[in-house]
Formats: sequence, C-alpha cells, structure tokens
Amino acid sequence: MPKPTPNPRLAAVDPAPIARAFGWRDSYDGRVGPLIDCSQAVPDHAPPAPLAERLGAAAASADAARYGAILGDQALRDVYATHVSRFYGVDLGPQRVAITAGCNQAFFAAMLGVATAGDAVVLPVPWYFNHQMSLAMTGVEARLLPVRETDGFLPTAEGLRAVLDERCRALVLVSPNNPTGAVYPPALLAELFEICVERGLYLILDETYRDFLPSGSGPSHDLFDRPEAADHLVSLYSFSKAYAIPGHRLGAIIAGEPFLEGMQKAIDCVQICPPRPGQAALAWAIPNMAEWRRESAEAIAARGDAFAAAIAASKGWDVVQRGAYFAYVRHPYKGVPAETVAEALVRELGILVLPGSFFGPDQEAYLRVAFANVSSERIEEIARRLAIGLDVTAPAETETIHG
Ligand SMILES: Cc1ncc(COP(=O)(O)O)c(C=O)c1O
Repeated sequence: MPKPTPNPRLAAVDPAPIARAFGWRDSYDGRVGPLIDCSQAVPDHAPPAPLAERLGAAAASADAARYGAILGDQALRDVYATHVSRFYGVDLGPQRVAITAGCNQAFFAAMLGVATAGDAVVLPVPWYFNHQMSLAMTGVEARLLPVRETDGFLPTAEGLRAVLDERCRALVLVSPNNPTGAVYPPALLAELFEICVERGLYLILDETYRDFLPSGSGPSHDLFDRPEAADHLVSLYSFSKAYAIPGHRLGAIIAGEPFLEGMQKAIDCVQICPPRPGQAALAWAIPNMAEWRRESAEAIAARGDAFAAAIAASKGWDVVQRGAYFAYVRHPYKGVPAETVAEALVRELGILVLPGSFFGPDQEAYLRVAFANVSSERIEEIARRLAIGLDVTAPAETETIHG
C-alpha cells in the first residue's frame, strides 16, 4: 500500500534550531559548574508580581475562557495604539493594530499577506532563522542580502538595489537585530523604506527588541509619519521579551487597514484569536510598567558591558557586534565550523550559545550569544571558563587555541 509523503517543502526545512541546540545540553557532565545558557533570547526572570497577578486573575475569569476578536481585544488594541503613537510621535488608531499569538505568528501571517509560492522576499543575512524557515516552508524564495562585518552588519541601499527584481514582494528587516544586535540608524531605515516605496514593495520591520534600546535614544524611526506607511509598512512586535511573558504568546502587527483584513483571514485559520488572559493583563501593563521596562533594559545593558569585558579578557575571542540583547562573537578557531565550536563549548565548558550557521550562509566564524539571559556574575564566569581552553575537533590545518 502506498504511504503518504509529507509536504517536501516542510521536510526540507532544517530542524528547529533551538530544539537542536537544547539537545547538546546532555553532552555536558557539569565538570566546570552549572550550565550557562545563552542560547535562546528569553528573559531569565518571571514577570513582575502585579503583572503575574493580573494574568492569574484573567486566566480564572469566565470571559477570558471564551473566544475573543480575531485581531485582538479592543482594550489592548487601544492601549497599544496609544503606546506606539507616543513612542514614535505619531497618531495611529487602533484600527491599524492586530494582536497576534507572538511575533513569529505575526511574521507568518504577514508573509501570507505579502507573498505566495514563487515570489521572493529579501532577507538580510545573517537572518532570524524562523523568518527563513517560514519562507522556505511556504515556497517563497528568500532573496539573500548579505551584510558585512565591516559595515557593522547593516545592509546598504546599493546592496538592496542589486538583489531586487520583479519577483520581489517585500524586504524584511530586524532592528535591533537578531542575531547580530545591530541597531539600524533611522536614516538607513528611511533610505531602505524609500526604495521599497519606489519599487512597490512592503517593508516588514520586526522591532521585537525595541524596548531594549538605550533610554533617551528617541524614536527608532520616522516611518509611521510618512504618507506611504499605510500601504508599505508592516511593523511587527513581540511582548515576549519586554514583559517577560514568552509563554503567553503575544505579539502585534501595525499595518494599513486593507492589509489587516488579510491578516484577519490568516489569523482566523491558525489561531482564531490571540490568548486572552495575557491580552487583559497587557492592557494594564503597557501604561503601568514603563519604569520596570526601563530598569530591565538598563540591567540588560549592564550584562552586555559585563559580557564585552569577559570576551575582551579572553584571548582569541572577539565581540564583533553587540546590541540590545545579543552579541555576535568571532570564535578563535579559524576554519572550524561554528556548530563544532558551539557543541564543544557546551560539552567542555558548559556554555550554550548558537552557532552563526543557524543564521545563514557564511556565518561559520561567528557565534550568537544571548547575554540578556544571564546574570552579570555568571557572565564573569564565562571568562574564567574560556581561559580553561577548548579542544575543538578541528580539521588538520586548523590551529587550536587554548586559553
Ligand atoms: C527577531 C525576533 N522576532 C520574533 C521573535 C519571536 O517572538 P515571539 O515570542 O513573540 O513569537 C523573536 C524571538 O526570539 C525574535 O528574535
């Protein structure tokens, strides 16, 4: 009897990267101390008590047990529209907001909104892996736009123009960036947006790490202020990091109303409505947790400083880019695949990070470190462990550095 075959596009997608990295943890025997996990970008603490209490109360309510509106409950759409309008100094109404079950779902739905199999979407490399995976499984070509270390891992207008053709439907940008941490200057975002407008493309801008920009740095761009924004800009956001609620799965899209009509169809099929207890709690948290968000961003910036100091003290290792949540680090094992180095790091030194190769081609020299997850004391411990040295299983021509 013939067996069914799974969708070949889905079968061809690489295994989920975080699950793969978590699998390496079992290789560590604890020889130099407890595991230091800098793999997934996830807050290392629970949400603050007033938010947790509201989540609990909302979860116990009969109302939150019912289906809600597909694009999110009105209270949260109102509050988020006001919050974003203040942050960017614009006036966006709640009809421009959709609440989603996390930013990954927002991206997937947005991709359904902009492209179909056979189209292309421009993705700077290194990419955020779930973006590439979403495109691959839907048959949309990821049109690669390599960014260089020497350019601070920022794309250029010339680079973008060089990869565009009539099959391209959108440009995807992540700022502050995952994996490099690079923060795209407002002028660069404006320049890239203008190219999107000129070429009839959408700009999908994922600002999941927006709240971790240094305080006082001002709005991260002025794109919402432009008349073309309603037609060309799709802004994505995650409540996971800034409110320490990744398990409650909440994110947001801001786009033009016709675009959101499409989102309503897409989200109805995969989710019906975003989780409701979290929506109720966030409607309170957004205006009331500003101080907590600022303190948490400052604490994370201090961890970034501690991490930079730890790497500066580690011979052969180099922080090549650092931003709001992540550092992109060059490892000292020239020619050794990043995955080999990452596996050795956890196996021998109990430090779990992600290899650059999870984020696209030509990233073998790098590792992504989510320093935001780990306390400053544990970050100092990273320097002590790196000084012990690492024995990577390297090709013969490769130099192995100890210490
Ligand atoms: C750039 C980026 N977008 C989206 C997400 C996923 O966010 P969410 O938990 O809201 O789905 C992440 C999480 O790591 C991310 O780094």
